[in-house]
Amino acid sequence: MTRIPVSLGPEVTRKMDVQSELGPVCDILLAAKSVCLLTGAGISAESGIPTFRGEEGLWKTYRAEQLATFQAFIQDPRLVWEWYDWRRGIIASKEPNAGHKVITEWEELFPYFNLITQNIDGLHQRAGSKNVIELHGNIWKHRCIDENTISENHDVPLKEIPPRCDKCGALLRPHVVWFGESLDGSILHKSFQLSSGCDVMFSIGTSAVVQPAASLPLNAAEAGAKVIEINPDPTPITGSADFSFRAKSGEFLPILDKELKRRTKQKKG
Ligand code: OAD
Repeated sequence: MTRIPVSLGPEVTRKMDVQSELGPVCDILLAAKSVCLLTGAGISAESGIPTFRGEEGLWKTYRAEQLATFQAFIQDPRLVWEWYDWRRGIIASKEPNAGHKVITEWEELFPYFNLITQNIDGLHQRAGSKNVIELHGNIWKHRCIDENTISENHDVPLKEIPPRCDKCGALLRPHVVWFGESLDGSILHKSFQLSSGCDVMFSIGTSAVVQPAASLPLNAAEAGAKVIEINPDPTPITGSADFSFRAKSGEFLPILDKELKRRTKQKKG
């Protein structure tokens, strides 16, 4: 296991002997045909969007069962929508960070590249990623609870709380997966297929405690892929990772990207 303490700040990041520390990871990535990424709330943390767990996490202040379950929604749709409206306002006021931007460039860098995210904030798409597999839905989409029709809505703040379906008048809900709900079967199946078939799997900015998403890197490892974790803190998958970098993704991904591109150029030239 290789650990690089880049979380100690920009000074340490600058002094780090990038070439020798990142060498083995770059070798693996440059030989890889298929690269898969799983991202979590941590990738958006440096954009200023709160994560769920940890000291400043949303679940420290808010109770998931009062805001992120279907029962809570049916009991008090206004309260639940007010919370989502507030979160939409925060997300809309933030920008993708350097980590999101590197990931958009990797779509072109690797022959097969797949991005799977647990995030509902849409920041990967705003950064420019084209193919994003969203395991937990998207906060910018509404779903009619009667007809199951999905529509995009980017109003900040929402014009009506709770919003209602234009066609049938039923309540609209956020198109996100709540506690106690199943993930979309085809999205999940595709994600497991991709994690089984890749050569390298990244786990970035996720506490790796929410299933089934947390199983994707382990599934990849079992199928023979190299697993690379990027997180300032250890997680339950750290022990199964081939490389675990104690780092912020917005700092570390640009360093890795720069080194990858330097080596690619060197190989060609
Ligand atoms: P968590 O809030 O559980 O975990 C965020 C992770 O990001 C933690 O492990 C942090 O250490 C790490 N982190 C913080 N800052 C970081 C940075 N700058 N760079 C890299 N990593 C950083 O978020 P998730 O793992 O995404 O589900 O949570 C999984 C699911 O739980 C979410 O999708 C959500 C939540 O309940 C639903 O809404 C269905």
